[in-house]
Amino acid sequence: MAHPRKIIIDTDPGQDDAVAILLALASPEEIDVLGITAVAGNVPLALTQKNARIICELAGKPETRVFAGCDRPMQRKLVTAEHVHGKTGLDGPQMADPTMPLMDGHAVDFIIETLRREAAHSVTLCPLGPLTNIATAFERAPDIVARVQQIVLMGGAYFEVGNITPTAEFNIFVDPEAADIVFKSGVPIVVMPLDVTHKALTTRARVEAFRALGNEAGRMVAEWTDFFERFDMQKYGSDGAPLHDPCVIAYLIRPDLFAGRHINVEIETQSDLTLGMTVADWWGVTQRPANALFIGSVDADGFYALLTERIGRL
Ligand code: RIB
Ligand code: CA
Repeated sequence: MAHPRKIIIDTDPGQDDAVAILLALASPEEIDVLGITAVAGNVPLALTQKNARIICELAGKPETRVFAGCDRPMQRKLVTAEHVHGKTGLDGPQMADPTMPLMDGHAVDFIIETLRREAAHSVTLCPLGPLTNIATAFERAPDIVARVQQIVLMGGAYFEVGNITPTAEFNIFVDPEAADIVFKSGVPIVVMPLDVTHKALTTRARVEAFRALGNEAGRMVAEWTDFFERFDMQKYGSDGAPLHDPCVIAYLIRPDLFAGRHINVEIETQSDLTLGMTVADWWGVTQRPANALFIGSVDADGFYALLTERIGRL
């Protein structure tokens, strides 16, 4: 029996982050969550660190270590997404404040200390929000970069182009300098861009399957999704919303559900017009070295079957 994979989830909850965290905490045979590091993104840090703890308690895992990280991007003003996630970041159901404690110490220090303590190439980083915490850790402790096993992140877009500007996906747009550091770090990266997450759309049947689980977690996932999906449905005229962040965790459990190409991806950090764009050389028209597995497709039925089965365990 393979050992569970050690991961750190870096996150800006966000309803879709919440589903990703529940999936990870419901899968202890495959995933060992060493800690959860909150970052400013969908909503300010004070809310993302609180939401991360609410989600851990909902999963029945109040012993999970949650740290607060950077409260703004490395160089720019914070841009948030209350228009998508609501004022609390977890709008939809009413949620009680968490009782589990926030860990002392900064998330960046936790990332550095963990990577220095654990065996080299034994820890995977799973960023689900802006890459500020990850890039700050790499800048502050360059020795940890070569110790990272893999980064599996949600961010970017190529064929799907932007969701916050015409050319940029939100996580990359909020902190393009951080993304540039991560994509140039040399760490093996798997990217879950909008190209794949927009193929993992909720549908009424899929949302009702969560509700029909009959447990608190299933009800919450259904109510979060009911709220979260209205933005994408209005914008794209789709009949559901993309559950972006759970694609990262699902990849760790069932990589066979996904397919992509190992290509060069670089980040626009200079142009105001295309700031935060992931310039993905999908067609290999440059000689730039491949630095990322850029995922383009998913078995959506398999993805939702996995998600529903695991949420049902909580
Ligand atoms: O663009 C989608 C991404 O931005 C998701 O991770 C969502 O939670 C927000 O962080
Ligand atoms: Ca997120």
